[in-house]
Amino acid sequence: MKACWMNGTMVDADDAGISVYDHGLLYGDGVFEGIRFYDTVPFRLDAHLKRLQRSARALHLDLPYSLEQLAAATRQTALATQEADGYIRLVVTRGKGALGIDPRTCAASTVFILADELQVVDSQAKRDGARLIVSSLRRLSVDQLDPRIKSLNYLNQIMARLEANDAGADEAVILNSNGLVAEGTVDNLFIVTEGVLLTPPVLDGALDGITRQVVLELASSQNIPCREQSLAVYDLLNADECFLTGTGAELIPVAQLQGRSIGSGERPVYERLQTAFTQLVRLEAAA
Ligand SMILES: Cc1ncc(COP(=O)(O)O)c(C=O)c1O
Repeated sequence: MKACWMNGTMVDADDAGISVYDHGLLYGDGVFEGIRFYDTVPFRLDAHLKRLQRSARALHLDLPYSLEQLAAATRQTALATQEADGYIRLVVTRGKGALGIDPRTCAASTVFILADELQVVDSQAKRDGARLIVSSLRRLSVDQLDPRIKSLNYLNQIMARLEANDAGADEAVILNSNGLVAEGTVDNLFIVTEGVLLTPPVLDGALDGITRQVVLELASSQNIPCREQSLAVYDLLNADECFLTGTGAELIPVAQLQGRSIGSGERPVYERLQTAFTQLVRLEAAA
């Protein structure tokens, strides 16, 4: 069942709306988080809320609630769905203002939290591996729109996803302006080469993914050598394994890049991390 918390109260999710003058809608001026809940408990909620706070600070956007208040509201909204597992979208917009872009005309931020049952991630990609293309678009750099800001403006990613759709692929890899791998449209990217797990550093153009961080922690606890390293398409094509991570995706193996198979199709490191991840989310929910 859908549930929605808006500016301090639970409201009917189907009737909830925001003003056509909200700058989140007019200009993409706002920040958000996508959070999963497992066994009714939001996963890594503190990390999500801290990232929301960092994104908001970078945009000089006021969070009208404390992180404790937002945590309580997020938990309440998850419980209101009466689902065990689901997905939460926490959005903070600049709020209602004048038609011009000037954020000073927006008196108060709009905050809403939507929770719903889980949308099924493409099970074929999960089983057989996703097919990726390399997008012709480049990820905006830190001096354009810092990729660490999880803002409401996803047009860069949407245009890359359109290219993937047109090519009949599942997802697009986005490179930065130096031609190095940044990330997918809504996920971080990992490869395994000669037993070492590698992922691009965030400053190469990736969101500081919560799932990415969890995978790095799991790799350490499983004694899988891992490090951040800049990667080129060359490294992806020569990898033994490749997979994507994200709140929606969790961990998804990658089978192909630009129509070429990656590795032999055996995915021992992915399998280990996938199993460990599934165990961890249930353990943390029970803690
Ligand atoms: C651009 C982008 N990169 C990476 C990710 C993965 O981040 P997380 O694991 O925190 O969901 C997301 C997820 O929303 C994203 O939008």
